[in-house]
Amino acid sequence: MTKNEYRFSYEVYDSIDELSGDDALLLKEAQKATQNAYAPYSQFRVGAVARMANGQLVTGFNQENASFPVGICAERVLLSAAASLFPNQPIQSIAISYQSNNGGSDHPITPCGICRQSLQEYEMRTGQSIRLILGGMEGKIYVIGSAGSLLPLGFTSDELK
Ligand code: THU
Repeated sequence: MTKNEYRFSYEVYDSIDELSGDDALLLKEAQKATQNAYAPYSQFRVGAVARMANGQLVTGFNQENASFPVGICAERVLLSAAASLFPNQPIQSIAISYQSNNGGSDHPITPCGICRQSLQEYEMRTGQSIRLILGGMEGKIYVIGSAGSLLPLGFTSDELK
């Protein structure tokens, strides 16, 4: 028997003021984007903004549906928009923020399992890591170097070859 270890590290910032100018701008855009989310059922509005490798910003927000499972998270709305607007263009960073009518927005949220799978594949198909900048409207901020690191032992297209 051997025991494998998976190590994961990420940066924690006390506030948006500690971020670089580029990262702070992206997070502010994600905070703004929450206002456009269509989330009448959960009242949980998520905004996600990508900085593409070419410097362009692309925005996404969650899109819910009366048939609940049809709803799409902000992250996957964003990835579809980015792939449509800029085919084959790597994503450098994505900032994600949220607002809820049922509680505060004072800590980071992390992408759900389905979105982690989509983010990982986007990294693989473009050959570049996607940095994640995660923060609420206030409070601490997490910066994660690669979205794929949130999915250890993930299933990938390598298995289909
Ligand atoms: N949601 C996102 O858009 N991203 C996440 O990372 C977690 C959850 C959405 C899905 C649904 O519209 C609402 O938040 C509540 O789960």
